[in-house]
Amino acid sequence: MATTVSGAILVAGGYGIVGTQICEILSKRNPDLKILVGGRNREKAAELVERLPNAAVAVFDIEADADPLNGMDEAISGLIAVVNDRDNRLMQACIRRSIPYVDITRWTDRVRTAVFEVALSDVNSPIVFSSSWMAGVPGVLAAHHAKEFSDIDVIDIDVLYGLADMAGPNSIEYVDRLASPFPVLKNGEWVEVGGLSDPKTAKFFGGAEGNTFRFDTPDQVTLPHITNAKSVSSRITYDDQGTMDLMAKLVSSGVWEKLSVPDFDDFRLSLLYNPGEGAVHEVTTTITGKDKGGAPMTRTIMVHDPVSQTHMTALGGVIQIEHTLGLDGSEPRGPGIFFAEHHRAPDVALKTLSENGIKVRVE
Ligand SMILES: NC(=O)c1ccc[n+]([C@@H]2O[C@H](COP(=O)([O-])OP(=O)(O)OC[C@H]3O[C@@H](n4cnc5c(N)ncnc54)[C@H](OP(=O)(O)O)[C@@H]3O)[C@@H](O)[C@H]2O)c1
Repeated sequence: MATTVSGAILVAGGYGIVGTQICEILSKRNPDLKILVGGRNREKAAELVERLPNAAVAVFDIEADADPLNGMDEAISGLIAVVNDRDNRLMQACIRRSIPYVDITRWTDRVRTAVFEVALSDVNSPIVFSSSWMAGVPGVLAAHHAKEFSDIDVIDIDVLYGLADMAGPNSIEYVDRLASPFPVLKNGEWVEVGGLSDPKTAKFFGGAEGNTFRFDTPDQVTLPHITNAKSVSSRITYDDQGTMDLMAKLVSSGVWEKLSVPDFDDFRLSLLYNPGEGAVHEVTTTITGKDKGGAPMTRTIMVHDPVSQTHMTALGGVIQIEHTLGLDGSEPRGPGIFFAEHHRAPDVALKTLSENGIKVRVE
């Protein structure tokens, strides 16, 4: 793949669990591309830099530095945020310098706040929100297959999460919101639903079946607008149904709400965050509606990653930053706000997934 950017790509959170894989995949696919591995710890960044053909360390603290890119002498052609950009400092630093920015970390509320901020700023580069599930991988595929329909009733995204999968400490904040209520489009109307409520059955790539429960992802806001679907849902289950059912029971009984206070932080996190070495990650997206001739049609898109949810997320991030900068052969994105599902070359995205061991089956 030919490199077409002159400056470096800064991977903020670049030696974390997802960030490391983004750096490795980007570097393998674009050997000429300079990669800046960013975070607070110089030694940890340097360890990864040693293993990459063309990389350097970038030290900053997005909580402490008002402008995390201040004093960086390297020319930056793009930044991917793989660390919670809580106060939008990285985003604003990119906007000020007209640097293309891709974020994969924000949950729906934070996307909304950031979109307001971008809309009210003077923006001269693409600002891409790609924090839908797996940095937008199922969303990109759903938006692609939605084009086969004249009318879409429902898009259901069902996730099978391996309890032995890996995850870094920066993802705790996201997981700790599993039980919070959030808005979804249901039969054409925006309604609020509870976290881990409203179960349905789902079937996955490897044949597993389970009861999935609602959880908050930005796909549920972006896909209704991008596909005109009347209902969009995201639901999740664990590869241990008993644990999932117990979590859902704790939430529906109100016990979880009582535990959601600082005194119980450690206890809650002991239930929510027990990362392992990696596990199969599978997502099934089902689109139901009418084909171009008006006949009923259903498309089921099953995705399987044998390595980890963090691997599929890294690929989602790579797909978006390459697309944004034109490294995938597309026209670079111009200035403005974009979402993952705006990807204009889904066939290229599919090729990237398949080259990296992700299987996609469409029925
Ligand atoms: N969209 C999705 O589907 C999806 C899926 C998985 C993960 N994610 C998100 O991706 C992010 C990374 O997840 P992860 O599992 O890779 O977490 P992680 O292993 O904890 O990685 C976080 C990285 O950010 C750095 N960092 C943390 N605080 C920082 C600060 N104040 N300033 C600069 N750098 C900082 C960390 O290094 P130091 O602590 O040494 O600075 C580390 O390199 C999380 O926000 C997670 O929610 C999204």
